[in-house]
Amino acid sequence: MAFEIDRQSQSIVPHPELQPDTLTFILPSQRTSLLMRSLLAGFTLIVMAITAPMVAAQKVELSVDASKTGAKIDRNIFGQFAEHLGHGVYEGIWVGPDSSIPNTRGIRNDVVAALKALKVPNVRWPGGCFADEYHWRNGIGSQRAVTLNPNWGGVIEPNTFGTHEFMDFANQIGAEAYVSVNVGSGTPREAAEWLEYMTTAQPTTLEKERAANGHPAPYKIAYLGIGNESWDCGGNMTPDYYLSQLKSYSHFVRNFNPAQQDQQQMKKIAVGPGGDGPRWTEWTETVMKAYQHHTWSWDIDGLSMHNYTVDWDHKFASMGFGETEYAKVLKDTLQIDALISKHSAIMDKYDPDKKVALFVDEWGGWYAPLPGSNPGFLVQQNSLRDAILAALNLNIFARHADRVRGANIAQMINVLQAMIMTDKEKMVLTPTYYVFKMYVPFQDATFVPVTFDAGWYTHGDVALPRVDAIAAKDANGKLWLEITNLDPNQPVEIEASLSGITAKSAAGETLTAPKVDSINTFDAPNTVAPKPVSAKVQGGKLTLKLEPKSVTVVSVEQ
Ligand code: AHR
Repeated sequence: MAFEIDRQSQSIVPHPELQPDTLTFILPSQRTSLLMRSLLAGFTLIVMAITAPMVAAQKVELSVDASKTGAKIDRNIFGQFAEHLGHGVYEGIWVGPDSSIPNTRGIRNDVVAALKALKVPNVRWPGGCFADEYHWRNGIGSQRAVTLNPNWGGVIEPNTFGTHEFMDFANQIGAEAYVSVNVGSGTPREAAEWLEYMTTAQPTTLEKERAANGHPAPYKIAYLGIGNESWDCGGNMTPDYYLSQLKSYSHFVRNFNPAQQDQQQMKKIAVGPGGDGPRWTEWTETVMKAYQHHTWSWDIDGLSMHNYTVDWDHKFASMGFGETEYAKVLKDTLQIDALISKHSAIMDKYDPDKKVALFVDEWGGWYAPLPGSNPGFLVQQNSLRDAILAALNLNIFARHADRVRGANIAQMINVLQAMIMTDKEKMVLTPTYYVFKMYVPFQDATFVPVTFDAGWYTHGDVALPRVDAIAAKDANGKLWLEITNLDPNQPVEIEASLSGITAKSAAGETLTAPKVDSINTFDAPNTVAPKPVSAKVQGGKLTLKLEPKSVTVVSVEQ
């Protein structure tokens, strides 16, 4: 990255003619030719740092035309994932009816209240890798089999949280059920019987068993995951082998709920890609090519994609890090945009009408386990960096709203990039939780394109767009804007010209904190919490100042 001094703002800006091909990469061959200029810029930077502190806010102009609308931002992109993993389910959700922690039928009340505020659209359960070793009969009735959880720490799985408890939890928080069935070590028959158990209203043996276990009415299952990562922990299958499994499960695993026959039909989600490279394009090609010629006897409504922000060889720390790790992680997370584009393009080839949704049903930051925690429990901290990471991912999903119609952050409580962390009776809401709360107005809102020249934030050899932004109109026609300032050092003055509406006033909230690695703890739970931000509207222009490293959501009154 090369720099020059912007004389107007008296700050360092990327040189307009010497930008890398993409926002985040610089090609090795360009490095040599830029070396001299970079050295010069580095020298200038030092001189400037000595002579004048860089406090001037950067100015970014946005243009929003509210009369031009795009696809609906499906509320299901704000889905969550709760796997039997570490303290995600046990302790995080389930404490049991005899616990001293206030609960309703064993499900902790504090967690339910916090999640209700997020309007969680759906919860994916029971896994993850756990799903492909899960046998549903272990988790029903008064006598639960005690089994093992070999994927995640090899600990005891008491099966006290099973089908009825999960459905109760989903109902308590007002979410739909996204159930993943066992393709890896199960059979189509086992999965078919589970669905019959959950959904039939007819007096079959399984229906009577469900009623005897306390739920006479059929359950609504909104989403069915047919396997999980079948290319890896879900059975190490080849694309062709998985395809024949998919066809079989898609046909036999039926939803009998009378209320889900003509309307609200259960959507079937096939396993899709888990990264970049030919292995994953082959997988998407195989499934989507078959879909193009599918017959009446099998069908899918979605293709899953998993993408973690992770360096598998040297996992980043989730706390106690600095600007270098901040910039690297954000650079890494932005790559999901290209991944979605790549797999969407394959899907477009075989499904130009976009009937099959892309479901990014595992995403988020995956860092090194916290010292002293069981490494199999995937315990990590959640910092301001994660809030910004979440906003960037949600914005990318929103920009792909025509194809990305579902996503599930991994995971809901106490695992990976969690919304909530608990320790016995204590609970704390994470920075990521607050981002999901601030984005509630974007659920099912209609995408409105925003154009802007983001400028650049650079650190070392990492160059990132300084700001990111999306806009949408909610069901009442109200315009909402989200603007992220990625730059951890400089504020940004936003001037947004609004057309297509008569804007009168604006109000909003911003989320930031003193440091890129600021976290909320049980003792200091409000270090990273939203606070009101003032925005001005005058002459069709909205102006507001973004604090460094912040996520801001504003609504515009007409
Ligand atoms: O979310 C943790 C694990 O990551 C899931 O079980 C698996 O699907 C993925 O590899």
